[in-house]
Amino acid sequence: MIDRGYHGIYGGAFLPEILVATFDELETVFRQVKADPAFWQEYVTLMSTYSCRPTPLTFAENLSRHFGGAHLYIKREDLNHTGAHKANNVMGQGLLVKRMGKTRVIAETGAGQHGVATATMAARFGFQCTIYMGEVDMERQRPNVFWMERLGAEVVPVREGTRILKDAINEAFRDWVSHMDTTHYVLGTACGPHPFPEMVSYFQSIIGQEARRQILEREGKLPTRVYACVGGGSNALGIFSGFMDDPVELVGVEAGGRGLHSGQHAVRLCSPDASVGVAQGYKTYFLQDADGQMKETHSVAAGLDYVGVSPILAHLKETGRVRFEAATDSEVVEALALTIRAEGVIPALESAHAFVQAFMEAPSLTSDDILIINQSGRGDKDIFTVADALGDENWKRFIGSKAAQYAVE
Ligand SMILES: Cc1ncc(COP(=O)(O)O)c(C=O)c1O
Repeated sequence: MIDRGYHGIYGGAFLPEILVATFDELETVFRQVKADPAFWQEYVTLMSTYSCRPTPLTFAENLSRHFGGAHLYIKREDLNHTGAHKANNVMGQGLLVKRMGKTRVIAETGAGQHGVATATMAARFGFQCTIYMGEVDMERQRPNVFWMERLGAEVVPVREGTRILKDAINEAFRDWVSHMDTTHYVLGTACGPHPFPEMVSYFQSIIGQEARRQILEREGKLPTRVYACVGGGSNALGIFSGFMDDPVELVGVEAGGRGLHSGQHAVRLCSPDASVGVAQGYKTYFLQDADGQMKETHSVAAGLDYVGVSPILAHLKETGRVRFEAATDSEVVEALALTIRAEGVIPALESAHAFVQAFMEAPSLTSDDILIINQSGRGDKDIFTVADALGDENWKRFIGSKAAQYAVE
């Protein structure tokens, strides 16, 4: 396995002996379905009847006028069932689980979005479901924990390490080692050991296929640039894949947190704080210290603060095919507020990172240029963070009165 799944020097599968047969089986099934056009059709039909595919490509007329340069389009992954592109990956993996005849799924989650999507898929297909979540993230994302439990999932708090996403991933692998016969691990992004990066990107490529077709129908030409936020890298690879062989500039935007020099960010591909290493079963850029210990990450967007990044993106950075930038927390909140007000759409904080960079670049281009921004998810889940960041006094009063009400009860 270690010889397979390389993208340049990145990727591979660094596995304990006991998991090798399971990964072999997964790779075999994945190869079979990739070669089977009926499988892709089954997937597209499922996504168009259970989720909202094809998602629209919206012309952001007011923002385009506001910046006075390029025409801005928004790819609306927020309109997927469960509110983000995560649905594309989990429903695809659900179909694979059915093919493998397994009955239980497990997953890790940080922001909770992938956990909710996986629990939804499990409910739909009738699988048992266990979600691993760092204790700290469980506190930050209580509404998502509530929904996962209602959907029938067992949510297991992870108390190891720093009690966030990377610790939840370790715990999910531990579970998998003991239950390989019945269980599939639904990894949530284009990271981890081979074949996960390729498999997740394959399901997410539906975004790029649609976006390319839609912009050609609408404008009769390709965009100048495509922007996407980068956590693990799945929404970015999904939309980029539609334009990989075209003369289109691809821009990935990472979480700049409190600034590139603050040490409080999650920038792996355009910061000297990250270096190449092997962890969690694959080789890529990690935010790690000289001894290989993972550093703490920070972002206003819980879905972007991961220490590693897709090995496919690491390779695309090296070849120069994708340009990487970083947006800070405060830039993100500002871009979010403007987008909500100007267009009446509410991007997730994660997605708003891509908006920041497009807004910075649009004014220096002309109306012949088209920029597509991938709105990977919707922002309803961020109400606590955004209301805090904007200092909304009425919201504080509302939460205060709810807290008082529960204290009395
Ligand atoms: C809405 C949204 N966008 C983006 C991401 C980042 O993930 P990825 O880089 O795999 O697209 C997340 C992760 O939770 C998310 O919830």
